[in-house]
Amino acid sequence: MLDSTYVTDYIDSHLGQRQVNKIQHGFPSPRYWTGTTVPVDEITEDRGRLRRAGQASEVFLYIGVPYCIRTDPGKCGYCLFPVEEFKGNDALEDYYGYVEREAELYRERLAGTRLGSAYFGGGTSNLYRPAHYLKIMELVNRLFPDVAAGADLTLEGIPQLFTRDKMQAIRDSGMNRVSMGVQQVNERLNSLSGRRQTTRHVTQSLDWAREFGLAANVDVIFGWPQQTVETMLADLRTLVSWDVHDITHYELNVGGPTDFALNRFHELPSTLSNLEMYRAGRDYLLEQGYEQHGAYSFRKPGDPASRDFREGYRPQLHDVADVVGLGYAAISFFGAAVLGPGRSWSYINQRNLARYKAMIDEGRLPVERAFRHEPDDWVLATVFRHLLSMGLDRPGLRAAMGVDVYDEFATVWDGLAARGLAEVTPERITLVGDGPFYTPMVSTLLAEERYRALREREVGQQKERLVPAGEGAGHVG
Ligand SMILES: C[S@@+](CC[C@H](N)C(=O)[O-])C[C@H]1O[C@@H](n2cnc3c(N)ncnc32)[C@H](O)[C@@H]1O
Repeated sequence: MLDSTYVTDYIDSHLGQRQVNKIQHGFPSPRYWTGTTVPVDEITEDRGRLRRAGQASEVFLYIGVPYCIRTDPGKCGYCLFPVEEFKGNDALEDYYGYVEREAELYRERLAGTRLGSAYFGGGTSNLYRPAHYLKIMELVNRLFPDVAAGADLTLEGIPQLFTRDKMQAIRDSGMNRVSMGVQQVNERLNSLSGRRQTTRHVTQSLDWAREFGLAANVDVIFGWPQQTVETMLADLRTLVSWDVHDITHYELNVGGPTDFALNRFHELPSTLSNLEMYRAGRDYLLEQGYEQHGAYSFRKPGDPASRDFREGYRPQLHDVADVVGLGYAAISFFGAAVLGPGRSWSYINQRNLARYKAMIDEGRLPVERAFRHEPDDWVLATVFRHLLSMGLDRPGLRAAMGVDVYDEFATVWDGLAARGLAEVTPERITLVGDGPFYTPMVSTLLAEERYRALREREVGQQKERLVPAGEGAGHVG
């Protein structure tokens, strides 16, 4: 357990520091995934046992596309996801053929599993031509004949690539939601990313979504170069005036060899300005009748196109334990505490397109790297998922994992509570006040000891590799 003075000192010294948001990748970060194979038989046998015992969870399906249209600067200036430049529909459709074959590798193994929701992302999933959306849903229905009633089936895209025909085809395919990467409504600020998006693209896409009864989410980013609280609020006001019910408001994650990190760092608002934006954005949206469902997620009830309207909002990821990721760079996640230690896995598919295809040609799952979770990892991975929705249900997690998440990290929760960032009751731990803004910092603190242990293990393994048993250090080859 971290020492309480260390925790409060850490919090105080990091309140003004730029955050690196790794929490969305879960725990641990893929950097620690050093395995190269996954025991798929073991995983699927476990799922069979859970189903027979009536303990199987619904599955979340993710299908990724590698391609994005070219921008100048490259990768929109900020994107940290692996992507390839779009070179035309032939390559995209050829790629999709591989995704279909990958799905076939899973089909029998997943028989009897219910689909809870699906997300078609990337890359840019609305690069597909209209006739293609039905093919995606055919794959989904082949893989999961049992789809939960009212499951969210979301296609992610960028406003300038939607057309009326595509939107109609998306609806006709059986998908029921689109998520639009808008990033900045402000055309001048948006152009810093090299994206050729106009306000008209956004309003037109929203109108088509409405015309075809599709729920629509808009992603926007705060902390953008040259952005101020005023320009940020102007964007949110515009989205509210367009009656967008579902807004995801991310803090810009700066890193890697991106244009924003290398050439526009000096134009980025400071962390404390980002905090101002977070507060002002949240307060404005709450005033306008939105509810905050996660650190970055705001929804206004009453959208007739959304199933929330009929059934009430249901968080997407927490009540489904398993994630099946298909396609280039897709991440899968299989875990359930009832299975006991060491039977939970994360893995990422090949981030090299040629290798992704080559492995499928060989009839193998295209896994690049994998990680077998120990119980401590599984607890952290679960806590991270719940943290994104700002709250942890203590009795629920105790029943699922056999540990109390307060006791496990008491000094961190107490330190956050002392600074007004969290509230702890016997039932719940909730991030409050500025707490959700600091979710990346909170996750770093929670994971610090386990990361230290993983680093030590890594160093130990490297030493073993460098110095085979019985040989001296001089024989390193
Ligand atoms: C997989 S990404 C990209 C989807 C789509 N191709 C696009 O360009 O909008 C999904 C969302 O993640 C968010 N995102 C991507 N990179 C980010 C970063 N560096 N910091 C914060 N949010 C980011 C954006 O809001 C984006 O809409």
